[in-house]
Amino acid sequence: MKKTALLVLAAGRGTRMRSELPKVLHQAGGRTMLASVLAAARAAGFEPGAIGVVAGYGADAIRAAVAPLGVAVTLQEPQLGTGHAVMAAQPWWRAYERLIVVHGDMPLLSAATVRGLAAALGGDVAAVLATASPVEPRAYGRIIREGNDVVAIVEERQATPAQLALRELNAGFYGFQTAALAPALAALGTANPHGEYYLTDTIAILARQGKRVTAFALADADECLGVNDRAELARLDQSLRRRKAESLLQSGVTIQLPDTVVIDPEVEVGPESVIEAGVQLLGATRLGRGCQVRAYSVLTDCEIGDQVLIRQHCVMERARVAAGALLGPFTRLREGADIGAGAHIGNFVEVKKTQVGAGSKANHLAYLGDARIGSGANIGAGTITCNYDGVDKHPTTIGDGAFVGSNATLVAPIVIGPGAYIGAGSVITENVPEDALAVGRGRQANKAGWARRRKKRTPLD
Ligand code: UD1
Ligand code: CA
Repeated sequence: MKKTALLVLAAGRGTRMRSELPKVLHQAGGRTMLASVLAAARAAGFEPGAIGVVAGYGADAIRAAVAPLGVAVTLQEPQLGTGHAVMAAQPWWRAYERLIVVHGDMPLLSAATVRGLAAALGGDVAAVLATASPVEPRAYGRIIREGNDVVAIVEERQATPAQLALRELNAGFYGFQTAALAPALAALGTANPHGEYYLTDTIAILARQGKRVTAFALADADECLGVNDRAELARLDQSLRRRKAESLLQSGVTIQLPDTVVIDPEVEVGPESVIEAGVQLLGATRLGRGCQVRAYSVLTDCEIGDQVLIRQHCVMERARVAAGALLGPFTRLREGADIGAGAHIGNFVEVKKTQVGAGSKANHLAYLGDARIGSGANIGAGTITCNYDGVDKHPTTIGDGAFVGSNATLVAPIVIGPGAYIGAGSVITENVPEDALAVGRGRQANKAGWARRRKKRTPLD
């Protein structure tokens, strides 16, 4: 027999979310609740093959969401309660000696708790359940004890006033010996206010059979925070964001007003970096050491080297920036922007699929798309690479040390040689050789006295 499997219950709709999306696919802390729970299972050492998910409402969406992980998905249809959900997956878990069961809507679950539950299942312990005594009351199952052992869980709606006063609550994370669980599930009834098969009732069944059930106290009572509506989702999101900010602070990152920043779980930030208020670091973004991200910049899936300064209000996605570059304010880097060491990209400059060489500058109001710009080049204010002819995209190449004057229009495909100069306001349609000056604009004509003569014809009053 295989050792230990882990089952995530995720078949419920979550009616109070008022959503088409199954509850566990709502996001908190930068990923779906289900993804957080699965991450805890993986971090506790469970291989994808030993992880199962029970899906029901929105099962297709859940299947699609977990497909890349390769975990087993069981359909529970209709959804007749938490006990019924575990029964539905029995053909999958019956090959294992022990089963951990967790709720998919409790994303604060930690790997330590999963490991603790698995470890508690030794010897004569038939089942173990995680409990917590949070300060704020919650409508959770109450834990009924006899001495050290647990003999029942009473759901809030069936509890006597004395039981309601109990502070120790059922978190929703369990461990079972499958040999004990299978007959206990078979003995479940539906005599309760919801007419459902309650997984919680297996505890009293096991206790009546003289089996031992123990409690595993959660290190952090918040871990049993679940989500039933969007207000709870928002609170949970906040506490997950706080945890992430806290871990960065501990690792040597300065964060101004931590409650205002949004940092996704996989983001990495090097020590001595400073993150200002209102910044969002999303997806797989990585920042090096000693960076400064000033207020309200949003970075998604970006790779940033050491000592990079990102001024206020930059919006960047799937871009790379090498050490010592200066960006912003109001810089827009799109996918494939690759900014070299020490380069300067300034306000209202948009860069897409473009390499900017070391030390090059584009400080104001430009569009650089599908271009390769060498090192030490200067791109004047208002420069546009005309990369799109309405059908296809074309490349622009600008050599090392080239100087592109303000308001130049570079019609691609085009090559500007190294060291070349482009006169301001030029429309460049032909390649420019190395070290040449190209001027492509109408020649200026001054007509002496013309304005005075015109004013005489139509006097101003
Ligand atoms: C459950 C527990 C309660 C505990 C609380 C902690 C029961 C009867 N009660 O109550 O003691 O304090 O969790 O959060 O178990 N699900 C299915 N199929 C179903 C029903 C539910 O997969 O048929 C899934 C849901 O998607 C959810 C989880 O099980 O992820 C918990 O279900 P929920 O209805 O939220 O249980 P609670 O009423 O909160
Ligand atoms: Ca719940």
